[in-house]
Amino acid sequence: MRILLVGSGGREHALVWKLGQSPIVEKLFIAPGNPGTALVGENLPITDDDIPGLVRAAKEHKVDLVVPGPELPLVLGLKDALVNAGIACFGPSAFCARLEGSKVFAKNMMRKAGIPTADFQVFEEAYAAREYAKKHPLPMVIKADGLAAGKGVIIAKTREEAMNAIDAIMVQRVFDAAGERLIIEEALVGEEASLLAFCDGKTVVPLPSAQDHKPVGENDTGPNTGGMGAYSPAPILSEGLLAEMTERTITPMIRLLAEKGQPYQGVIYAGLMFTANGPYVLEYNVRFGDPECQPLMVRLESDLAEIMSACCTKRLTHVPVKWSRKTGLCVVLAAPGYPGSYPKGMAISGLDQAAAVPGVTVFQAGTAQSGDQIVTSGGRVLGVTALAPDLTSARSAAYQAADLIDFDGKYLRRDIGAKGISRTG
Ligand code: AMP
Ligand code: GLY
Repeated sequence: MRILLVGSGGREHALVWKLGQSPIVEKLFIAPGNPGTALVGENLPITDDDIPGLVRAAKEHKVDLVVPGPELPLVLGLKDALVNAGIACFGPSAFCARLEGSKVFAKNMMRKAGIPTADFQVFEEAYAAREYAKKHPLPMVIKADGLAAGKGVIIAKTREEAMNAIDAIMVQRVFDAAGERLIIEEALVGEEASLLAFCDGKTVVPLPSAQDHKPVGENDTGPNTGGMGAYSPAPILSEGLLAEMTERTITPMIRLLAEKGQPYQGVIYAGLMFTANGPYVLEYNVRFGDPECQPLMVRLESDLAEIMSACCTKRLTHVPVKWSRKTGLCVVLAAPGYPGSYPKGMAISGLDQAAAVPGVTVFQAGTAQSGDQIVTSGGRVLGVTALAPDLTSARSAAYQAADLIDFDGKYLRRDIGAKGISRTG
């Protein structure tokens, strides 16, 4: 197989690292990739939003399967364009990708499928939203409808914050067209977990549980990031609960889409919150989580290329999907200032030493090649990922390796996996 993977982050490095181990993979291309993905395949200078460019490259390089890492190309219709060109794509159609691309669509679909989600109201103009927000109990959650680079969710603790959020989304249009509509919903309280599943349109095969760490600061303080670390399995989502949650939050959605003539193929991700009133779905993503993907990939024992192909050919029941019983844990090393503005171009040292720690793989994210040197080029720079017999040993290996890596202002959370350890005692 010849595979083209789209994206350039830590998730994409982990996916291409795993695909590179498959005996059925002959050649890997990554668009645009990073210096880490270049160790496994050939990087192509095409951005993830250039749909015609990606289709052209897939044809030119005689690619059998395209794997979009991020949501943007899926929402922009990459799958549909590839299918028209006769090329398989591990990912949903533009219609199904609206589960992530439009929060209004996702909430309406959840309501229709009977999936538990926070109570909500949709607004198409600011006046009505403000009137509603004047009376809604505090705190309340305000969400831009469309893609907003992870910044479109505001948890307003005061009326003033709510009014400012409505103004920013709908009047100032800080997220552009993503703010044509917004949602106001009840604020839920509880611990979050990530539930992912492979789907071939009909069959649903859940991945093991994972937990992300979204806030930048220790003990979940400070602004939200793309994720500062993740581990799998997450004790909050035991194997029994995982099966139950798949039945309650993923299967009904896949069934509803199939009934609409829109089979979902690819990986689906439900962001769950466990509240005092039971579990709720906060959101769907139509792709792997980043950084959840990193600990999941080091645990996957089966052939990822075979699984992805099977999802595209409705043969998911026929392929093995086996996972290591060990724990995977990823610590993200970030640039100083992230998720706000941060410097770039800082030289990174210690990558080889870190990778030599037993059980550790270093996935690159915001990195660039500058001569012989790997330098930083993004907010989330590296994902130091360990596979070890249990959570405690995975944590110590990941931190031991993370401490061997250095760049100016390197920032990391020291408490990745701490919630899992407090649950297991
Ligand atoms: P979303 O993009 O919908 O996942 O939102 C991003 C983050 O905002 C989630 O991971 C939660 O931490 C938080 N969030 C979203 N919706 C709610 C809600 N209804 N109540 C409390 N927190 C929420
Ligand atoms: N780690 C959260 C996400 O990928 O959306």
